[in-house]
Amino acid sequence: MNLELLTREALTAFASDHREEFEAELRLLVEIPSISAEPTRAGDVRRCAEAARNLFERHGGQAEILETDGNPFIHGWFGDDPGVSTITVYNHMDVQPANEPEWTAEPFNFVVDGDTYRGRGSTDDKGPAVTALFGALAAKKAGIPLNIHFLWELEEEIGSPNFAGGLEKHKDRFKTDAIVVSDTVWLTRGKPSTPAGLRGLKGFLLTLETADHDLHSGVVGGAARNPLAELIELVSKMMDGDTGKVKIPGFYKEVVKPSKKELAGWATSGFTTETFMKDHMLKGLRTMDPIGILKRVWGRPTMEIHGVVGGYTGPGIKSAVPPRAEVKLSCRLVPDMDEHKTMDRIKKFVKKHNPDVVVHEEHGLAPFKGHVTGPYAEAIREAYQFAFGAPCTFTREGGSIGAVKTMEDILGCQVFFLGLSLPEHGYHAPNENYDWEQAGGGMAAFARYFQTVSGIKKS
Ligand code: BES
Ligand code: MN
Ligand code: MN
Repeated sequence: MNLELLTREALTAFASDHREEFEAELRLLVEIPSISAEPTRAGDVRRCAEAARNLFERHGGQAEILETDGNPFIHGWFGDDPGVSTITVYNHMDVQPANEPEWTAEPFNFVVDGDTYRGRGSTDDKGPAVTALFGALAAKKAGIPLNIHFLWELEEEIGSPNFAGGLEKHKDRFKTDAIVVSDTVWLTRGKPSTPAGLRGLKGFLLTLETADHDLHSGVVGGAARNPLAELIELVSKMMDGDTGKVKIPGFYKEVVKPSKKELAGWATSGFTTETFMKDHMLKGLRTMDPIGILKRVWGRPTMEIHGVVGGYTGPGIKSAVPPRAEVKLSCRLVPDMDEHKTMDRIKKFVKKHNPDVVVHEEHGLAPFKGHVTGPYAEAIREAYQFAFGAPCTFTREGGSIGAVKTMEDILGCQVFFLGLSLPEHGYHAPNENYDWEQAGGGMAAFARYFQTVSGIKKS
């Protein structure tokens, strides 16, 4: 191992020497609209898998596209020596739709604006993925004795419905000592953070039909049932719209409260209400207390209404009673909640309060409890300090990554997080972006991480 290539200075030089190449590779990926939610994009998703495979091969790695019952995933690897440890880096190559009107340029044109890279998928999650790859190239160049593997998924943004099945089928090639995921957000620039937990997610749809077609509200109104009104009534029995509190009996029963130590970490994490509002351009909040906000986003489950469909919303008035309506909702889940138990409670509640309402379930994701001690967690801490000159805090994330719990369960090893995105990069938002400071520093962080973990005794 050539330690001279692994000093902070040498890695800064490596990053700047490879900046143009990094930008070109990221451009190739961002310009493929690999939107997993849109069935018409299946060809683009496939093209993205091929581009990813070619990317690994172009840089001296091996790669294969692996099939699942849904979108494929990509296995890329540098080294397969049974005598040394293996680390697997997880990222996802699929992206969110990009039809928000606020985009200032075509979302699938990669725009380089000084140090900022703009385009759908630039920060969630193609930028961090390519950053980790360049970190691996630096590690390989220095001769770090480690097998570095990559697993890039293509249906993370739809809840990874075929990931478990696919991984089960291909698990023999993914024997690994630890997994590191780069798909999370820091609290703020200059202050790295890594989650010690993720929330799970369970989506569902409520539908109600009370007639066959629109009817005159003067002729039947008053006597006819109104499906929109009944669904609104039901949902407000389920949750308090002002406070967000869920009123389903037993909903919070399995929730594990954050420990005193965790809360102390959150309090010194650098989080402020003001920057939270600014980063996300929020006009108001349910609480202004910073710890109250973090408890709600990281430590508590939610019930969110995503959309209501039904009736007439055109100009003027249409005096009709609508025949049917629907409400789309989801719950974020925290440890130790169980998606099935939660869904059963919701179904029971609906049945009791409005037996005509039909509940349609979506594929769910379990919450994840992370690891903050041990050599692999220490290596994360050390890598951030080395690359960004600042200690990282163990926080939690309010978001969900379906593959994380699945990888621990199927591959039998622990998952850690070396995320690089910032709040202002705008996950899922218009004008999503990533930047060179995070990419260049991220390459050094990954190289350092690989160096440190290569010295951990194989278990
Ligand atoms: N990278 C995010 C997960 C995430 C969000 C991590 C916020 C940290 C903070 C991931 O790509 C994502 O958006 N997941 C979805 C999954 C869902 C569509 C099933 C999510 O959390 O909504
Ligand atoms: Mn992501
Ligand atoms: Mn996402």
